[in-house]
Amino acid sequence: MEALPPWPYPLWIAHRGAGKLAPENTLAAFRVGLALGYQMAECDVTLSGDGVPFLLHDARLERTTNGFGLARLQPWSAMAQLNAGRWHGTEFATEPLPTLAALAGLARETGLMLNLELKPGPEDDARCGRIAATEAQRLWASIETPPPLLSSFSIEALAAARDHAPALPRALLLERVSDGWRDAARELGAVAVVIEHRAVDAEVVLQALESGLRVLCYTVNGEAEARRLEDAGVDGLITDAIDRLGPQALP
Ligand code: G3P
Ligand code: MG
Repeated sequence: MEALPPWPYPLWIAHRGAGKLAPENTLAAFRVGLALGYQMAECDVTLSGDGVPFLLHDARLERTTNGFGLARLQPWSAMAQLNAGRWHGTEFATEPLPTLAALAGLARETGLMLNLELKPGPEDDARCGRIAATEAQRLWASIETPPPLLSSFSIEALAAARDHAPALPRALLLERVSDGWRDAARELGAVAVVIEHRAVDAEVVLQALESGLRVLCYTVNGEAEARRLEDAGVDGLITDAIDRLGPQALP
């Protein structure tokens, strides 16, 4: 079995910027993660109707903003006016939806590393993968931190990322380990798989390693589970529990 190339990312990754401590996928959230010692954050990247990559988890705007409807159908000029923090608390009342370009600015300023999860809107997989990955490759070309790790549940989005931004590392997201998972990752030229944590054990890590893949896990919010996964040999733990687990909390 060949040794894997060096892995430039830290073990602990703050989910959606700051887990539940700040409004997900906002610049305020990444700053909270940084303040708690996190050097890397996961976030969700999608596209506006007119092709601007920005951060949003859901296909629709209602849960985390004061907007309505599918983000995929709306121009960025309208979504740029929305509030993305008030739902979480009044102290975040002025927080906007961030563009990928704004996130790159924060990464340049702070050294924060990113796992950009490509989250296409309905029937938007290839366009989202192509535009978001191309833009990320351009934005991070002059940033000194390791490049953003692109991940997705969407094979179509990752294939578009591979074809249009080959310099950026890719990871396939999996809810479970089922037939052909390593072949799918290999065809995408992935360097890693990001697997729902309960599906991961030492055997899965070994199988991944045999295919030249690292294993990261989401979303790991318990200390005993984190230790079990570390013992199994995983290279990344994506967590909401950034005030209880992670760089400062676990030795
Ligand atoms: O990228 C890992 C994790 O974020 C995937 O699930 O729904 O939280 O984006 P979700
Ligand atoms: Mg995500």
